[in-house]
Amino acid sequence: MSGTINAIVARERDGKVAGKLEQLAVTDLPDEDVRVRISRSTLNYKDGLAVSGRGRICRRLPMVCGIDLAGEVLESRDERFKPGNRVLANGYELSEKYWGGYAQQQRLKGDWLVPVPEAFSAEQAMALGTAGYTAMLAVHAIEDAGITPDDGPALVTGATGGVGAVSVMLLARLGFRVTGATGKAEGASFLKALGAAETIGRDQLARESRPLESETWGAAVDSVGGTTLATALAQTRRGGLVAAVGLAGGFKLPATVMPFILRGVTLRGIDSVMAPQDQRRRAWSALADRIDPGRLARISRVAPMSELPSLANDILDGKISGRVVIDVNA
Ligand SMILES: NC(=O)c1ccc[n+]([C@@H]2O[C@H](COP(=O)([O-])OP(=O)(O)OC[C@H]3O[C@@H](n4cnc5c(N)ncnc54)[C@H](OP(=O)(O)O)[C@@H]3O)[C@@H](O)[C@H]2O)c1
Repeated sequence: MSGTINAIVARERDGKVAGKLEQLAVTDLPDEDVRVRISRSTLNYKDGLAVSGRGRICRRLPMVCGIDLAGEVLESRDERFKPGNRVLANGYELSEKYWGGYAQQQRLKGDWLVPVPEAFSAEQAMALGTAGYTAMLAVHAIEDAGITPDDGPALVTGATGGVGAVSVMLLARLGFRVTGATGKAEGASFLKALGAAETIGRDQLARESRPLESETWGAAVDSVGGTTLATALAQTRRGGLVAAVGLAGGFKLPATVMPFILRGVTLRGIDSVMAPQDQRRRAWSALADRIDPGRLARISRVAPMSELPSLANDILDGKISGRVVIDVNA
């Protein structure tokens, strides 16, 4: 095992932690059981925080960033994996405590790996990535609560983002009338092409809300947090569920207990990072069944790894719609 690989490595430089393209020796990779040749990774909000250094994601340095990867097993000391197996990984503290997917190769624990569903190429799997798999976890939470389109329309906030766009596709496919809340002028046509019935401006939700507002939503997937999540809760119908996924608009929750005690609303947290393997495999298998490849292609594009330092700032500044797949070999 020799040679070098390209990787985005976060280090402290001039008093600031940020990720840059570097060459590493293959022998520098951590001593984990499965060596994977990565072909694609992807860009998530959390990757933006890690690579730009605008959020404290990397808890060890140097750190190979990237919370997602898809590729092929090169060698394995774990008997569950053989050379040539197509695998992917999401979360599991990659880019936080463990070296992640912005590299041409990585060594990983077998426990972190999920087979790439037959239906997907590595590129399609990464067009979904953590954002898509998390959207599926959120939609499973809604379905598992027994909520159906008869219970009312579904709200998706941060709708043109990665989690948002995939949530819109999945909820529309289940038959929900989906409203996408977006701050982007071009958001309406983008979201309608994914199956949204209507869009509303993000500022209709990002405001101080009354404890209870007009009962509107049967279910919601929220990527934004803060006043947006509080308003979504206040507008959720009796017995409805709000899946809290993200904090693109803030981590505080200025809400009251009223939706919970007077309408039986459920606030369900979604944690993709440490979700158990059975939930992950169920989510990936459902994505393979339910995602329309044409629509997936419409929300994704491929960019080279060398563009990550600028893409990291773009995603944090809300300039990206849909998903960016990272070609780690370009
Ligand atoms: N819980 C988990 O396991 C998990 C997994 C994945 C992601 N997340 C979190 O979920 C959130 C979304 O992730 P993502 O990868 O989908 O990110 P993304 O692609 O950047 O999408 C976030 C979207 O939120 C909206 N937004 C951005 N800034 C905002 C602001 N200041 N106020 C209100 N809305 C704003 C934008 O949509 P519009 O322009 O359409 O409004 C943006 O496209 C992030 O906070 C991420 O950390 C959590």
